[in-house]
Amino acid sequence: MSEAFDAVDVIVAKRDGKRLTDAQIDWVVDAYTRGVVADEQMSSLAMAILLNGMDRAEIARWTAAMIATGERMDFSSLSRPTADKHSTGGVGDKITLPLAPLVAVFDVAVPQLSGRGLGHTGGTLDKLESIPGWRAALSNDEMMRQLDDVGAVICQAGSGLAPADRKLYALRDVTGTVEAIPLIASSIMSKKIAEGTGALVLDVKVGTGAFMKDEARARELARTMVGLGTDAGVTTVALLTDMSTPLGRTAGNALEVRESVEVLAGGGPADVVELTLALAREMLDAAGRPDADPAAALADGRAMDAWNRMIEAQGGDPRASLPVARETEQVVAEQDGVLARLDAYAVGIAAWRLGAGRARKEDPVQAGAGVEIHVRPGEPVRAGQPLLTLHTDTPERFGRAREALDGGIDVAPAGTAVEVGPLVIDRIDA
Ligand code: URA
Repeated sequence: MSEAFDAVDVIVAKRDGKRLTDAQIDWVVDAYTRGVVADEQMSSLAMAILLNGMDRAEIARWTAAMIATGERMDFSSLSRPTADKHSTGGVGDKITLPLAPLVAVFDVAVPQLSGRGLGHTGGTLDKLESIPGWRAALSNDEMMRQLDDVGAVICQAGSGLAPADRKLYALRDVTGTVEAIPLIASSIMSKKIAEGTGALVLDVKVGTGAFMKDEARARELARTMVGLGTDAGVTTVALLTDMSTPLGRTAGNALEVRESVEVLAGGGPADVVELTLALAREMLDAAGRPDADPAAALADGRAMDAWNRMIEAQGGDPRASLPVARETEQVVAEQDGVLARLDAYAVGIAAWRLGAGRARKEDPVQAGAGVEIHVRPGEPVRAGQPLLTLHTDTPERFGRAREALDGGIDVAPAGTAVEVGPLVIDRIDA
């Protein structure tokens, strides 16, 4: 088959700072997926995009071209509106677990297609797989049935959505081009738009434990994604939220499930509750339920009922005991004072090294491994008091986990005023 363009011409256009035409974009994304454009050519184009950027129309066209390489899901046969949340990833970010059943209480369907963790951020599916019997892989029919019956589903994204993204993401990962905002935004939004949700709330994390360390870049990413969603007819808003400190008091799979269940039981750490409610209100508002009261549904057990039904529908036993790591060790305060900083990245790497995360896609994770946080920034500490408990099945990992925490914990003299910034930094809508 003769090809419409020559890959080199497309690369040279972007290298020289020109905007790509719609036809060039459609062709290059499709031809790469078909294997006609080679990896080295696409990596060169990705680098040119990273260096020279793309305008809003180019990014929208690139996103549409990625969607066109795969299937689109369609929830229009459901009797209720759909709303979904996407987080750019953080440490201790278990919010999807309480959030999906909570929003479903209000007759909104939540089709939450999730992933596994790679690197220092955990994956929602890894967390749920610590529940005995629970399974992540559902067929499209099973997913629709569960959305009809229960209203919430958290499952693995099928391989049919935006296959161009899978190939391109793996290439970006090994060519130093992950950070390009047009490529991050189109990667995330192609999957969310193809999934067919009516409303989307983005939790764009900022801080050491996030993908975007810098607020200005996080803001630009949020604006770009909100623009893409809106242009595709999806009601989209973004919250910019802090990820310089881990969320809640746990990082690790079963540990985070336990904490999520506490939130569903009306308790749990204040920051996890605050973010769950902020995102729930945005989802409910975007789905046409502005008067819903999600705090009441956490307090009176309706969210917990929805959680139990959601876990059972996927073969899990919500009442079974969760796995516990075989060994624990404590990290204690060396002096009296006040905890001034607990670095999210350091805790994320420690949890990962303890076995909660994986180094390669195919590695297994330890369900019980991770870090339990006893003291949060701003709280007083006494010398010898446990700050963290490290959990693992493989105690030879403790040393490397402790190394990761070096420099990540600051205790200031007692009486020092520690300023804890807001969790929700800003809200960005269309
Ligand atoms: N998550 C994605 O799905 N894609 C990116 O490019 C970055 C984060």
